[in-house]
Amino acid sequence: MTVNIAMLGTGSIADDVLAPALQRVAGARLWSVLSRDRDRARAFAQRHGALAPAPVHDVLDTLLADSDLHAVIIAAPDYLHAPHAIAAARAGKHVFTEKPMATGIAEGEAMVRACDDAEVMLAVGYHLRWHAGHRKMLRLIRAGGVGDLHHMRVQWTFQVSDARNWRAQRDTASWWSLSGVGTHCLDLIRWVMVPACGEVVSLASTISREVWHGPNDETAVVALRFASGATAEFCSSVLFAAPSRAEVYGSDGYIRCEDTLTRRAAGSIDTHQGSLEFDVADPYAGEIRDFVAAIENHRKPEVDGREGLRNVELLAQAVASART
Ligand SMILES: NC(=O)c1ccc[n+]([C@@H]2O[C@H](COP(=O)([O-])OP(=O)(O)OC[C@H]3O[C@@H](n4cnc5c(N)ncnc54)[C@H](OP(=O)(O)O)[C@@H]3O)[C@@H](O)[C@H]2O)c1
Repeated sequence: MTVNIAMLGTGSIADDVLAPALQRVAGARLWSVLSRDRDRARAFAQRHGALAPAPVHDVLDTLLADSDLHAVIIAAPDYLHAPHAIAAARAGKHVFTEKPMATGIAEGEAMVRACDDAEVMLAVGYHLRWHAGHRKMLRLIRAGGVGDLHHMRVQWTFQVSDARNWRAQRDTASWWSLSGVGTHCLDLIRWVMVPACGEVVSLASTISREVWHGPNDETAVVALRFASGATAEFCSSVLFAAPSRAEVYGSDGYIRCEDTLTRRAAGSIDTHQGSLEFDVADPYAGEIRDFVAAIENHRKPEVDGREGLRNVELLAQAVASART
């Protein structure tokens, strides 16, 4: 069976990254497109070869009424993830949503419930887990390559020139740097640390909003402690651009990733024993391949709704902690 997938949203991640990645996934194809503007949907459908007899939509319910459609990719602003996912689940479609999965805990819980009730998959797009270098790093850590895990540090920032983006507005997003890149830092930390160190048991943060004075974070610095006593920290910002970095420290060594947190499968990784070589593979194709395999094999996707929800809970905790 070929999995027919609709793209909800025609913006940057959908156009530049997700639609091209979908073309690299065997057993799945772009079927239809939702945009607020039919001409934009038509142009997107043509550009990426959407294959439904009627691929162009500006009303979600009409797109979801297509019985040949199996799944949706939600690539719209954060505040639309929950309503889109819940409508898709009720129509019996599997859901892959971009990160963060929701703008609040209640919305995330409602998404999980709707997908459980409808017995459809819910996957969340944390593409850094499919970076071939990160996967090799994880295998090394799980094999004891750095000994007992004690600390992880991650930084990912970018620079904006104004506060007009929907991430900066409270009615379309709950977080700005934390939504753009901080949520990825947090997911990378949880992916590496939680299986070895247990859950996050405490969190403290500081947040600054002093350049544009908007409602959402401009820079966030978050510190975490795990059940084992191991610690982690991450910094996200929209104020300055710098090479991204992730560092893992254990009792017997370290791993340092330089500029691997990007949209590309790029960067370099060093360890206390020298560099870690890895293949270059499109991480976005990896996450969609996992979603399609989960549908075909009736198994959970690697990043499921509960994992996405835990990330949202911690983002909410980071904002609450900064207030106190
Ligand atoms: N995993 C990653 O690496 C990654 C990277 C970037 C973004 N993302 C996530 O992907 C999602 C989309 O981000 P993006 O950067 O692609 O955003 P974007 O460039 O602003 O595109 C979002 C699209 O959503 C549609 N949309 C519907 N209602 C909208 C509204 N009220 N305001 C603005 N757009 C609206 C628009 O398509 P129409 O105009 O056609 O309706 C728009 O082009 C977000 O959840 C973001 O966090 C993930």
